[in-house]
Amino acid sequence: MISKVDRGAVQRRRRSTASEPRGSIMPENRLFQGDNLEVLRRQLADESVDLTYLDPPFNSNRDYFALSGNTHSGISADNSSAFEDRWQWNDLAIETYEELSGEGDDRLSSLLPALKQITGETGLMAYILMLAPRLIQLHRILKPGGSIYLHCDQRAGAYIKLLMDAVFGRDNFLNCIVWCYGLGGSSPRYWPRKHDDILWYSKVVDGHYFRAIKIPATSQRMKGQLKKAPDFWDIPAINNMARERTRYPTQKPVALLERIIQSSSRPGDVVLDPFCGSGTTLVAAERLGRNWIGIDCSPEAIELTRERLARTEQDTFNSSSGEFPNIKVFN
Ligand SMILES: C[S@@+](CC[C@H](N)C(=O)[O-])C[C@H]1O[C@@H](n2cnc3c(N)ncnc32)[C@H](O)[C@@H]1O
Repeated sequence: MISKVDRGAVQRRRRSTASEPRGSIMPENRLFQGDNLEVLRRQLADESVDLTYLDPPFNSNRDYFALSGNTHSGISADNSSAFEDRWQWNDLAIETYEELSGEGDDRLSSLLPALKQITGETGLMAYILMLAPRLIQLHRILKPGGSIYLHCDQRAGAYIKLLMDAVFGRDNFLNCIVWCYGLGGSSPRYWPRKHDDILWYSKVVDGHYFRAIKIPATSQRMKGQLKKAPDFWDIPAINNMARERTRYPTQKPVALLERIIQSSSRPGDVVLDPFCGSGTTLVAAERLGRNWIGIDCSPEAIELTRERLARTEQDTFNSSSGEFPNIKVFN
C-alpha cells in the first residue's frame, strides 16, 4: 500500500519541476539496457544512490524463459529466453580472478583464493567472480547514509555473505531478512525450500537510514493492534492468478520491494536495481515517490519494465497523454 504521505511527495516533486522541459523531469530516473558492470562503472557517480536492491541470478544452473501467452506489452513472449543462469570457469573468470586476487592487501584479494581453494575452478567460482566486481561498484556508488539489500538463496548465499563482508565490511552487516514465500512444490527428500535470504548492509557503521514498518499483530494479546515487522516476512510469491504477474521468470512481488523501500529510503531518494528484470523495484519506487535507476541486459526485461512503469505512472498521476517523459532507456 502507498501511504498518502508518499503519494503527496510524488506530486510535490512533480509540481516543483513543472516548468522544466519534459525531458528533464526527475533526471535521476534512468533505465539502462546492458551489462550492469559497464553501466555502473561508466554511468553512475560515486556516492550517488541512497538504496540498492539486487536480485541477481542465483547460480541455479538453468535458463529462464519468458512464458508464452499474452503479455500487456505484446513483446515476444513466445518462450523466448529471458536470461541464463549457468556459469562456467572460463577466460573471463580467470581474468577477473587474476585482477581481484592479485597483490592487494584488501579483504577481497585475501578471500578469493580461499574460496577458489574450496570451490575449485567451477561454475560456482565463476559465479562468485561475476558478482565480486559488481559489488565493488555498488559499494562505490552507495551514499554514506545508504543501505543495500542483496537477494539470494541457499545455493550461493553463504559465499555471497563472505563476499559482502569483504566488500562492505562485516561491521556493516545489519541483518539477514528471511522472505517466506510459501509457493512451489516440495520433495520428500528435503525440508521444502520455502524462503529466500536478503542480506542487508550499510555503507557506514550505523549510518544508514531506517524507519520501522508496522504490520498487524497476530498474537491473541495484541489482536487488532500493529507491531513492528520482524526480520522474517510472510509475503506471498506471485501466483498464476496474481494481477501483477508479468510472466517474467523470477518476478518478485511489489509488496516485498515496497517494504524495503519504505523502511530504508525517504521520498525523493534514489533507488537502484542493477538486475531489475521485470522492473518490480522501479515500479515500487515510482509508487512511493522515490527516484529510480534500473539496469538489465535482457531486451525483454527492459521492454516489460518500460511498460510496467508507464502503467504505474498512469495509475499514480491519472495521466492519459500516453507520453511518459521520465522513462529514458539507454542502450
Ligand atoms: C532474478 S532476475 C531479477 C528479477 C526481478 N527482481 C523482478 O522482480 O523481475 C535477474 C535479472 O538479472 C539480469 N542480468 C543477469 N546478468 C546481468 C548483467 N550482467 N547485467 C545486467 N543484467 C543482468 C537478467 O536478465 C534478469 O532479468
